[in-house]
Amino acid sequence: MKILLLGKGGQVGWELQRALAPLGQVDAFDHDSPGPGAAPHLRANFAKPDDLAALVRLLQPDVIVNAAAHTAVDKAESEPELARLLNATTPGAIAAEAARMGALLVHYSTDYVFDGSGEAPRQEDAATAPLSVYGQTKLEGEQLIQASGCRHLILRTSWVYAARGGNFAKTMLRLAAERAELKVINDQIGAPTGADLLADITAHAILAVQRQPELAGLYHLVAGGETSWHEYARFVIEWARAKGVPLKVAPEAVLSTPTSSYPTPAKRPLNSRLSTSKIQNAFGLTLPHWQRGVERMLTEIIER
Ligand SMILES: NC(=O)c1ccc[n+]([C@@H]2O[C@H](COP(=O)([O-])OP(=O)(O)OC[C@H]3O[C@@H](n4cnc5c(N)ncnc54)[C@H](OP(=O)(O)O)[C@@H]3O)[C@@H](O)[C@H]2O)c1
Repeated sequence: MKILLLGKGGQVGWELQRALAPLGQVDAFDHDSPGPGAAPHLRANFAKPDDLAALVRLLQPDVIVNAAAHTAVDKAESEPELARLLNATTPGAIAAEAARMGALLVHYSTDYVFDGSGEAPRQEDAATAPLSVYGQTKLEGEQLIQASGCRHLILRTSWVYAARGGNFAKTMLRLAAERAELKVINDQIGAPTGADLLADITAHAILAVQRQPELAGLYHLVAGGETSWHEYARFVIEWARAKGVPLKVAPEAVLSTPTSSYPTPAKRPLNSRLSTSKIQNAFGLTLPHWQRGVERMLTEIIER
């Protein structure tokens, strides 16, 4: 199998390099990687949809996995044209090429396509109503891929973390070592989801769709259970304390605060719960509780 991986250096892209490797030949790109063979000038820069379409035509992959995106949620509010190019126009151009050549396109989307009202986990066919430019442009990306007619897997996820690079848990551990008191948002509810889990399930799903094309489609994919950022922070801090990591903050000094006390340029959904029964049933999966993946990530951080 010939696989084109885009956005190889991001949280999910990095883990995909590992998880896709056993499936076949993987050509992996970031926006400044030189193009292949006779076309070193061709970059996988999502600000240039025609270049991405040309790259796909040149490589003729069986599977395209797109982990590139404009993920700076607050910044997107002030640069909506760039966010639209990266999250919608270029994925749409890639999807059009995938449709022409019969390739499978794997793409990631987000719970930010929803308005986050209510308290129930959302199914895949729930009404969308993004609150932000990021959410709106990610939704447009989904719609362009679906309209292209290409075989696709769109995986909506939330609260993605990875051991590599910065993440919420590392920030909490740093602040907990520096300060005697922390305030963390307690009214946004979701499931922290590891980039490693997303990558492993992507590889599994690609193999399954190659054998059973009717499994292609839109799925919600997050770890099991649910939490708030406040509970997540407390979990991280209590775990680190139990492992003997020196911290200044006492567990009772990790205080909760509402989203309204932290105004940000982009509005975030309060209810980020996604129902995952569709993907678990279709692919025969059991999604692990979010705490299992976070414990692994913390172990990697602390033992480094
Ligand atoms: N992070 C989350 O909490 C979250 C939640 C829900 C859904 N998702 C979705 O999951 C997917 C993967 O997210 P992630 O967390 O892995 O994001 P990430 O770590 O921010 O990675 C995004 C990747 O896109 C690349 N990129 C940025 N601008 C580009 C451009 N002009 N051309 C080509 N590549 C460009 C980045 O490269 P540079 O780093 O070199 O700029 C990076 O490799 C995305 O579709 C995202 O929307 C993420």
